[in-house]
Amino acid sequence: MTLAAGPTDIDAAARRLVAGGLVAFPTETVYGLGADAENPAAIAGIYAAKGRPSDHPVIVHLAPGADLAYWAKDIPDVAYALVEAFWPGPLTLILPRADRIPDAVSGGQDTVGLRCPSHPVAQQLLAQFARLKGGQGGVAAPSANKFGQVSPTTADHVRAEFPELDDSRLLVLDGGAAQVGIESTILDVSRLGKGVPPALLRPGHISAAQIADVIGVMPSLQAGTDAPRVSGSLKAHYAPHTPLVLLGRDEIQTAAQRLVAKGSSVVAVGFGNPPVGFVPADTALRHAEKNEGARDPGIDFLGNARLLWVQAPEDPHAYAHALYAQLRAIDALGADQIMLERPPETEAWRAVNDRIGRAAAAFGG
Ligand code: TXA
Ligand code: MG
Repeated sequence: MTLAAGPTDIDAAARRLVAGGLVAFPTETVYGLGADAENPAAIAGIYAAKGRPSDHPVIVHLAPGADLAYWAKDIPDVAYALVEAFWPGPLTLILPRADRIPDAVSGGQDTVGLRCPSHPVAQQLLAQFARLKGGQGGVAAPSANKFGQVSPTTADHVRAEFPELDDSRLLVLDGGAAQVGIESTILDVSRLGKGVPPALLRPGHISAAQIADVIGVMPSLQAGTDAPRVSGSLKAHYAPHTPLVLLGRDEIQTAAQRLVAKGSSVVAVGFGNPPVGFVPADTALRHAEKNEGARDPGIDFLGNARLLWVQAPEDPHAYAHALYAQLRAIDALGADQIMLERPPETEAWRAVNDRIGRAAAAFGG
C-alpha cells in the first residue's frame, strides 16, 4: 500500500527509520530509498534492495537547520554560502566526512554527500526522525530504483521497482510527482584545503553558473582523477529497459524506416510536430502510464502503430521534469527501440544531456 503522506504516516515512517527499517520518500528531485545514516545494518538493507555495489557512497539527507558540523569536518566557508543560497533545494555538497559517518554511507571514502531537500514531506520526515533520535539525525538515501535504472519520480514508480518488498519491509511515502524530475546537482568542495577547486560531479537543476554566482568561481566540470567516485557518473547509467539511441532529427526518419522494414516498432521523443510516417503517441502513452506499475506484457499498447512520436517539452526544466516518467511509460509500450532527438548542446541542457547520454551509453550509443 502506498500512503498519501499525512502527519501520522510521516511519524510512522520516522519510527520505521529509527527501528532500522527502509522508507522510500519523495524529494523535489526524485524519490529516495532511505535508512538511518548512523545505522550500518540499515544501510546494508539499501544496498541489498537496490542491488548496488557497496563501495558506492550514499547521500545523507538533512532537515532544514541541521548542524553541518555534526556530519562533516573542515567545512569551508563556500559550503556555508552554498547552503545559505540553495538549501533546501536540489544541491548535494561533498565534504570531508565527520568520524561518526559509517563506512557504509561513504563507501569507504573520506568524504560525505549532504543535501537538504525542499519537498515538504521529506522535510517533515527528516525533522521528525531527528527529533526521535534526540536532536541530530540524517537519512542516507540513494534514488529508490534498482542499480543502473531510471530514478523514480512517483510513489508508484518506487512500488514498481521493488515488487519483492511488501509494506513490512519497505514503507513508501507518497508526495506526488517530483517537481524537478532528475537527480540533484553534486558539487565537490571536499578538497579546497588541498588546493583542489570546487568540481561539479553531476549536473542538475542548479547550474554551474548559479553556483559561480555564489562562490565567485566557475566550478570545474571535469573532475580530477582523484575526485570522489559517483555511481551516477558511470558512463552507462539511468537506462530504461527498451534500447535507446540519441539521434539528430534528420537521422530519426531514416533510422526508423530501416527498423520498421524489419518489423520493429519505434517510439521517438523529439521537438515539434512528428516527422512524416510517425503518429502521435499520446493515446498509447496515456494507457501505458495507467498500467505502468503492472508492466503487463499481455497488453498490446502499440496495436498496429510502428512509429510513434512523443512531443518533448522545449524547455529544459520541463523536459527534465517529464523525462523519467516518460521513459517508464514508453518502456511499458513494449516498443523495440526508443529514439531521442538530440536537444541543443547548450549550458541550459547540460543536466538533461548528461542523463540521456548515459542512458544511450547503456546500449552502446
Ligand atoms: O537528487 C538526488 O540526489 C537523489 C535524491 C533521493 O536525493 N539521490 C540520488 O542518490 O540521486 P544516488 O545514490 O542515486 O546518487 C547519488 C550520487 C551517487 O552517484 C553517489 O556515488 C554520489 O552521489 N555520492 C554520494 N556520496 C558521495 C561522496 N561522498 N563522494 C562522491 N560522490 C558521492
Ligand atoms: Mg541513483
